[in-house]
Amino acid sequence: MLVEVVPTYDAMSDRALEIVATQLREKPDSVIGFATGSTPAGLYSRLVDEHRGGRLDFAQVTTFNLDEYVGLPPDHAQSYHHFMWSHLFAHINVDPSRVHIPGGTADGIDETCRRFEEAIEQAGGIDLQVLGIGANGHLAFNEPGSSLGSRTRPKPLTESTIRDNARLFDDPEEVPRHAITMGIGTIMDARQLLLLASGEGKANAMHATLEGPITAMVPATIVQLHPHAHVIVDDAAASNLEYKHHHGIMEPYGRRLV
Ligand code: GLP
Repeated sequence: MLVEVVPTYDAMSDRALEIVATQLREKPDSVIGFATGSTPAGLYSRLVDEHRGGRLDFAQVTTFNLDEYVGLPPDHAQSYHHFMWSHLFAHINVDPSRVHIPGGTADGIDETCRRFEEAIEQAGGIDLQVLGIGANGHLAFNEPGSSLGSRTRPKPLTESTIRDNARLFDDPEEVPRHAITMGIGTIMDARQLLLLASGEGKANAMHATLEGPITAMVPATIVQLHPHAHVIVDDAAASNLEYKHHHGIMEPYGRRLV
């Protein structure tokens, strides 16, 4: 695991861009796993800028998103479909038939999950999976207690996640209580992980993730076992780390990824 602590959200997003751009330039037909949330939004606006500047081409890229709410139509302003299209996909030259976001209706959900896993396999597996982290240490919508070997499936959301999400909805009744999510096992199959965390609200989760024991109660701790996990945290998200040696770790070694 390579942990980098950078001063700010912008520095985190710049660094994430370098890693994703390197992946795409080295393998133009990469399979990229994307995450939603405010954390990767800075990365996505940078990817759009790179594309507009003619420096990044997505024509051969295949994408898989981590998760989606159950019950929200794709055009709902808070759906993850809407998030991904408005922040990224609508502004780059990705082929829409190569974009995979899990379906969000309750009907036939097990079949949807099975097909999603199958599509990842058919694409040759995920080369690079971008991840954020929930304040309670969840990855995608794998809430505390999720099996560390799990595959894509429907999951109930915890009260704390429902509360965290409520600020985004006008009507509290509308806040989804279930999601469809890649499993922890699915995420761990990606050849490379890029976990991003920013802000004080993530400080406890990052301390547990990087310095705590591996436990299903903090699903993100599983990244400790991944052979190519790259973690980028800003100072605020790193503020509870006991070991400070991560700061500036790249300087003596140059800036090349593991
Ligand atoms: C949701 C998503 C996660 C994301 C988390 C944090 O729970 N399912 O994938 O990491 O929110 O979001 P934010 O980056 O906005 O803090």
